[in-house]
Amino acid sequence: MAKIKTTFYCQNCGAQYAKWQGQCNACKEWNTIAEELIQKPEKSDWKLTTSSGSKRTAKPLKINEINISEEARLDTLDTEFNRVLGGGIVPGSLVLLGGEPGIGKSTLLLQISLKLPYKTLYVSGEESQKQIKMRAERINPNNNNCYILTETKTQNIFKQIESLEPDVVIIDSIQTLHSDYIESSSGSISQIKECTTELIKFAKETATPVILIGHITKDGHIAGPKILEHMVDTVLQFEGDRNHVFRILRANKNRFGSTHELGIYEMQGSGLREVSNPSEILISKKDEVLSGNAVAATLEGMRPLMIEVQALVSTAVYGTPQRSATGFNAKRLNMLLAVLEKRAGFRLGAKDVFLNITGGITVDDPAIDLAVVAAILSSNEDEPLPSDYCFAAEVGLSGEIRPVQRVEQRILEAEKLGFSTIFVSKYNKISLKNTTIKIQLISKVEDLVNFIV
Ligand code: TYD
Ligand code: MG
Repeated sequence: MAKIKTTFYCQNCGAQYAKWQGQCNACKEWNTIAEELIQKPEKSDWKLTTSSGSKRTAKPLKINEINISEEARLDTLDTEFNRVLGGGIVPGSLVLLGGEPGIGKSTLLLQISLKLPYKTLYVSGEESQKQIKMRAERINPNNNNCYILTETKTQNIFKQIESLEPDVVIIDSIQTLHSDYIESSSGSISQIKECTTELIKFAKETATPVILIGHITKDGHIAGPKILEHMVDTVLQFEGDRNHVFRILRANKNRFGSTHELGIYEMQGSGLREVSNPSEILISKKDEVLSGNAVAATLEGMRPLMIEVQALVSTAVYGTPQRSATGFNAKRLNMLLAVLEKRAGFRLGAKDVFLNITGGITVDDPAIDLAVVAAILSSNEDEPLPSDYCFAAEVGLSGEIRPVQRVEQRILEAEKLGFSTIFVSKYNKISLKNTTIKIQLISKVEDLVNFIV
């Protein structure tokens, strides 16, 4: 009998060791190294025999001889998904979709498979064919192109792929797959690595795109080694608050496009609806103007997004005032408060400050700074801002109002949505003419105080 081979893997970063040790040398985590069985087969490789024989044998080509016309992207008919991918699925690419349990990953990919005008194979290791059918009934029951397979063994999946020859393969989820060539249980580092390697090989050899679903751990990383993210071409993250209806799709890594684009969906009874005009939904329409609310003209990727910021400033009950921010960087909030204290003479040190970005969205566009400052000032004075004001500028450490990129696009969006005034930095170069919206140029935080207090 052959000797059973084992290796030790760090369950956190995937580093490999010949024997057990307490701390991983690579990521410095303790107690993450575990033994996993490895059994390499005699014939160490699967060979996918396509009907046309080996379709792609790689040989060196001059760069200007490489023909890219056949690499046209597959249109998924889902504008948000296309946008995040950078214009559709690239043939032969591996896309990894991560997200918390129950956020809607399976729903999103099933919905896309049902919409796709190509032959799609949806492989599920988590749900039975009947369960998936029940879900599909809610979304789009009429589709002749989508095949469902319940299988977890990669060799069997490839056998089915050979006879079906799908144009797109979806795997729900990579953690449930296992390969015969490795003995350890599914979900372990060596299984995930092996299954992904087999899928990459299949994708690159046949130019079939593969989309994988990956679970994420409690601290928000995709479960499995970090190398999984290095192996695939694109890493998408599906996020949102389960108590909110909005779901946000963003690219953490994209070899074929920008990582700044954002896709927004709304979870409904009949699946996910694409939100093509998010600004109108993110701004709450109310009859009464309340203090502490300000609207920021932000930009996510190429798309302008008007976002409402809410602040609450109240007298601190305890010795140390509380600062809490939802959807905004807490350190940045502290910095803005310090700027207000120093430059505008506000005694915020004895006040609790709470900040919230509505809609459960997290923003990292620095142009939101000015709206945050305006909301805090408004709440502190208990003086509502006019509801048709909006803001787009970064605030610097010395209280200067700094310019932001693509300010004209923000101004036009604000105008389209009926805002009367937008506050921007004096240092932004604006060549817009004939705008009905008033462009208020300011250079210091003190200027803003004069306008709104
Ligand atoms: P699911 O796709 O199973 O999440 P994941 O695969 O990320 O774990 O999402 C399930 C949730 O979505 C569940 O709470 C029910 C809800 N849902 C709807 O609200 N409407 C629908 O049409 C569908 C199919 C699911
Ligand atoms: Mg699922």
